[in-house]
Amino acid sequence: MKAVISARYGSPDVLEIRQVPKPEPKAGEVLIRVHATTVSRTDCGMLRPHPFFVRLVAGLLRPKLTTLGLDFAGEVEAVGAGVTTFKPGDRVFGLSPDVYGAHAEYLCVPEQGAMAAMPAGTRFGQAVVCEGAWYADTYLQAFHLGPGHSILIYGASGAIGTAAVQLAKSYGAKVTAVVATPHLDLVRSLGAEHAVDYTAQDFTQIGETFDFVFDAVGKTTYFRCRRLLKRAGVFAATDLGPWGQNPLLAIGSSITGSRRVLFPLPQSNQAKAFVEFLKTRMEAGEFRPVIDREYPLEAIADAYRYVETQQKTGIVVINVSPVQQRARPGSGLTDLGAGVGPIREHEH
Ligand SMILES: NC(=O)c1ccc[n+]([C@@H]2O[C@H](COP(=O)([O-])OP(=O)(O)OC[C@H]3O[C@@H](n4cnc5c(N)ncnc54)[C@H](OP(=O)(O)O)[C@@H]3O)[C@@H](O)[C@H]2O)c1
Repeated sequence: MKAVISARYGSPDVLEIRQVPKPEPKAGEVLIRVHATTVSRTDCGMLRPHPFFVRLVAGLLRPKLTTLGLDFAGEVEAVGAGVTTFKPGDRVFGLSPDVYGAHAEYLCVPEQGAMAAMPAGTRFGQAVVCEGAWYADTYLQAFHLGPGHSILIYGASGAIGTAAVQLAKSYGAKVTAVVATPHLDLVRSLGAEHAVDYTAQDFTQIGETFDFVFDAVGKTTYFRCRRLLKRAGVFAATDLGPWGQNPLLAIGSSITGSRRVLFPLPQSNQAKAFVEFLKTRMEAGEFRPVIDREYPLEAIADAYRYVETQQKTGIVVINVSPVQQRARPGSGLTDLGAGVGPIREHEH
């Protein structure tokens, strides 16, 4: 099978597409023929590696995991002994948070792994949305976001941000989304009550306070956003912040109590429940994929280069196989069509 190999750390130039042995499912495993995957900021962080401490888990000098890729959607090709939940031919989607490996034609996933039947009416390239949504949900769950809460989502146009807007709406919160001018209509179409253009005004001076402020792109700071928080309000960000301040502030503010900072980390053992939850949200029309570009597997290095610009809108999809599933009419999901190769198409 074809797999994308990163035998050493570095820029996307180190990536090679090689022929490697097709994996065999062991007992309790499911072999998936991958039709679509994504290149995410996590993949980019693992490739470089960035930040530096990624080496502590990913391998000090060389990467332990040589095929990256978290999101997958595809068909079950074979199952190992004892597998009862899935059978060959099932269409599945999910996340491989512990071993990655989705940048390949085949991938083995534990039967109890973060995987579910594809949401009805979606094609493979539309279902590879789990990673950003899982990160987003980790923060919203840490906030205990619910009906009546107000949340400001800064950087709401990325993979995590577009997911956070939609999930926050489905939890009944009132959403203010902060984005650049080209993304204002997108975030409104995803359900944000207010869209603020950070290029046209200082988003910290909008004259409102919020229960939660979520920096979904790691480009602002707690100290900038503090004035946006109600006294019992909570701030969280997807990045460490300047000089790693966010985890330190999380510890400090747990003592002071008001205008706290949270620094939650996604837990692999909760990923399966999240994928199943996301399937229900997609089928209910409350979550739709925001796809920026699609690339064929052969152009994956270009996809990495694009994701590294930190300019993508939503997700960047890799079509591993040429199979394209059409969205069922009325599913609430926009079908982008069958084209491979870079396209720039925002689903709004
Ligand atoms: N291993 C890792 O390092 C790792 C892994 C996963 C996630 N993360 C973190 O998770 C966060 C988000 O990931 P993601 O995949 O959702 O990001 P992303 O998709 O790459 O975010 C890109 C979006 O952010 C917007 N943006 C760029 N600069 C901005 C600014 N100054 N203010 C507001 N918006 C801005 C861009 O639009 P405009 O430029 O048009 O505004 C673009 O739509 C990042 O903080 C990332 O570092 C890190």
